[in-house]
Amino acid sequence: MTTTQVRVALVTGGTAGIGAATCETLATLGYRVAANFCGAEDRAAAFTRRTGIRSWRWSVADHEACTTGVAAVEAALGPIDILVNNAGITRDASLAKLSPENWQAVLDTNLTGCFNMARSVFQAMRVRKWGRIVNISSVNGEAGQFGQTNYAASKAGILGFTKALALEGAHAGVTVNAIAPGYTDTEMVRVIPADILPSIIAKIPVGRLAAPAEIARCVAFLVAEDAGFITGATIDVNGGQHMG
Ligand code: CAA
Repeated sequence: MTTTQVRVALVTGGTAGIGAATCETLATLGYRVAANFCGAEDRAAAFTRRTGIRSWRWSVADHEACTTGVAAVEAALGPIDILVNNAGITRDASLAKLSPENWQAVLDTNLTGCFNMARSVFQAMRVRKWGRIVNISSVNGEAGQFGQTNYAASKAGILGFTKALALEGAHAGVTVNAIAPGYTDTEMVRVIPADILPSIIAKIPVGRLAAPAEIARCVAFLVAEDAGFITGATIDVNGGQHMG
């Protein structure tokens, strides 16, 4: 970091996959990092034991819980300067088989979660005249994917949300950007049926899944002190799978 001030970063879905890699990358760079999670306590505890990064449990889909959770993190670490909206879920099914519940659950976590979390930190960032928000979208929000009308809609929604909020933060030193990762070596991808995954990898020109750290390095780029002129952008990190 080029500042003497230690910035505080909160990463949602921060104890596994891209979120965990992001926490570890930012901690290595000297940021003070908090991880949010919603799943298993034991996995989060193992993450904290391994990395020394503290974690807090709440659902980003719950507006009230986000307000309370952010307050708890800020009481422990100080005002949040950097928010990485990474928490996301899949409930893949073709439209005919997609239940209203699984449509709503994906929208609530992936898209409304970004709103809930941004709403908890954005105004204070504007008052302090510095902030970084990075929203994790997906190549499938740009290109579409069979069986993911819910997920693709949520991830495409994140791109519009990012651009609109970037306009609201621009005059106050708050940048808002999106990253659209391609298929990354995480649990979310590991549950794709074994007979389908090879056909997906065959469509990735680089010829492999991304490592979570390869997405995290892009987050680090966007949250840096000298990244203040980058706002409203979407950065594709997809191995050449989709070029927008
Ligand atoms: N394109 C066109 N047709 C397809 C297809 C595709 N990609 N996949 C399946 N079909 C066809 C089948 O051939 C079959 O046709 P017939 O009925 O004529 O035989 C029909 O669609 C099957 O439809 P079903 O609704 O019965 O499909 P299913 O229930 O067997 O499986 C699915 C649907 C669960 C979505 C399965 O296709 C799947 O898991 N696909 C992978 C989805 C995927 O890529 N998810 C990404 C998760 S990771 C992630 O999201 C992270 C990120 O950001 C990248």
